[in-house]
Amino acid sequence: MRIVVLTGAGISAESGVPTFRDADGLWEGHSVDDVATPEGFERDPDLVQRFYDARRRAVASVVPNAAHHALARLERAFGDELLVVTQNVDDLHERAGTRNLVHMHGELQRALCAACGARPVWDADLEPRPPCPVCGERMLRPDVVWFGEMPYDLDRIEDAVVACDVFASIGTSGSVYPAAGYVALASACGAWTVELNLEPSDALIPFDDARAGWAGELVPAWVDELVTARG
Ligand code: APR
Repeated sequence: MRIVVLTGAGISAESGVPTFRDADGLWEGHSVDDVATPEGFERDPDLVQRFYDARRRAVASVVPNAAHHALARLERAFGDELLVVTQNVDDLHERAGTRNLVHMHGELQRALCAACGARPVWDADLEPRPPCPVCGERMLRPDVVWFGEMPYDLDRIEDAVVACDVFASIGTSGSVYPAAGYVALASACGAWTVELNLEPSDALIPFDDARAGWAGELVPAWVDELVTARG
């Protein structure tokens, strides 16, 4: 049984990582335009570097929660039949043990070199403008996909969504495309669709199974059902 799980900020909320839209549109005191667009980076690169440096340090100080661990357990049971597609830039899925994972909006734990395109693993601050380990230029930025930029691995994601038998959406408001369109694509291709979210998202089509609650409770229970049914 092929499963695609799409996750958003809500799966990391119980680990202490702030979501985007629960903060009244302000993202830790900043407007999205200032810290999540190429124009904002152009306007004030130091502000943007400091913002992501702070988020990178904050994520290093929190741990995966029961929902992340449940998805790692699901991968141990289903192997390559499972793909986790996350909109999150934290590394909590990896730290819980998930391997079949796509970060469609990039990763705080990588930098992107604007000079040579390298995407080195990165855990230090970028504000001091360190040299790129590949080309030496001091043009590293966070490897985070900003609004107006192309998300990563879209072909691989769409192939998996089209082919899956079960599509689950966990902890996402379903307000940013292309991620928000995957449930409709999966459903049109015959998949059973499940939403595990604090409140019903504004998805265009209804999920076959929509469960409201905390990811830390809903996800382990849902994984138990799948693993038990698999025998
Ligand atoms: N358990 C389950 N769901 C939760 C929890 C929780 N503990 N806490 C919050 N949620 C839900 C909220 O109800 C909301 O529907 O998670 C969702 C979080 O939505 P957003 O804050 O919009 O985050 P997300 O959907 O991941 O945003 C998508 O938008 O800002 C861009 O690139 C950014 O990747 C991000 C994208």
